[in-house]
Amino acid sequence: MDDPVITATALRKRNGATRALDGFDLAVPRGAVLALLGPNGAGKTTAVEILATLRRADSGRACVAGFDVAREPDRVRERIGLAGQYAAVDELLTGRANLVMFGRLNGLGAAAARRRADELLERFALTEAAGRRVDGYSGGMRRRLDLAASLTRDPQVLFLDEPTTGLDPRSRNGVWESVRDLVGAGTTVLLTTQYLEEADRLADRIAVLDSGAVIAEGTADELKSRIGGDQIDVVAAGAGDLGAIAAVAARISGASPQVRTDERRVSVAVSVSARIGVLGGILRELDAAGLEVEDIGVRRPTLDDVFLGLTGRAGADAPAGAERHETEEVSA
Ligand SMILES: Nc1ncnc2c1ncn2[C@@H]1O[C@H](COP(=O)(O)OP(=O)(O)OP(=O)(O)O)[C@@H](O)[C@H]1O
Ligand SMILES: [Mg+2]
Repeated sequence: MDDPVITATALRKRNGATRALDGFDLAVPRGAVLALLGPNGAGKTTAVEILATLRRADSGRACVAGFDVAREPDRVRERIGLAGQYAAVDELLTGRANLVMFGRLNGLGAAAARRRADELLERFALTEAAGRRVDGYSGGMRRRLDLAASLTRDPQVLFLDEPTTGLDPRSRNGVWESVRDLVGAGTTVLLTTQYLEEADRLADRIAVLDSGAVIAEGTADELKSRIGGDQIDVVAAGAGDLGAIAAVAARISGASPQVRTDERRVSVAVSVSARIGVLGGILRELDAAGLEVEDIGVRRPTLDDVFLGLTGRAGADAPAGAERHETEEVSA
């Protein structure tokens, strides 16, 4: 972390009565992909908009690519690209016309803007659709066009606000590939996401944002190891037993369990050396208490466990059809 290209210190910003950012601190090393992970309303868009100079913080300080975002916004703007949460492209123009327009807005001459547009269309597999109006594009094509539009000027730092929300798994993979290519070419990327899997798969570092402040930061492995050891999962046969099962899990493990009501699941952290004993103990107690269980097992912790442990809420699942990783349950 000796050369952070994005730094934010004690940023605060009110949106009306809401403290959208409330002591936001961050440092992103050059060439990294950092995922800002947080639920709806956590302040992700507000943070990106301040770092990308679209809005000013009420207090605190941020520097991007070596310049202060409040004092030298023009210098910052020359060095960044931004693909916002809501599409910036013009629906009534063709894909190519949009990219030429963005190139011109970014100061390229007419010929250079056309050349750049064609390169980007090729790179994002939009050449065939280039002459069609954007209102006929699929969601994935629009996202790719948005991403292309943010790159008309080879940014040092790229901000992507929820780049894959609403995309199917194949389009999502396409966006991930593009991001990896950019990082391979030296771009630093700050992306926001609600998807734990996206943060896990794509990001070098993850900052968990909740109520306007970063509550944990590190690699996915570092965050997972904070939980310590493995997780024992108990899936209740009936939703009414969750409280009683959680009490048993707490008593036997000595740790405080997390309860996911929607999945009828109680999860509790356990050290690797103690896991079999704890599992057996929980099973015996549940049996003695007549609490029926649909499934019970030991697994490695996921980012979801980290998120739930930190925020008290489950993270968003990836869209339907996406693979889930690291949930090898060992049924007892
Ligand atoms: N223009 C606005 N006026 C008033 N409140 C706002 C405005 N924009 C955002 N907010 C509030 O500020 C807080 C942070 O919003 P922000 O859009 O930064 O969150 P987010 O993490 O990007 O959420 P999402 O996942 O829904 O995109 C929220 O509580 C939101 O309700
Ligand atoms: Mg947002």
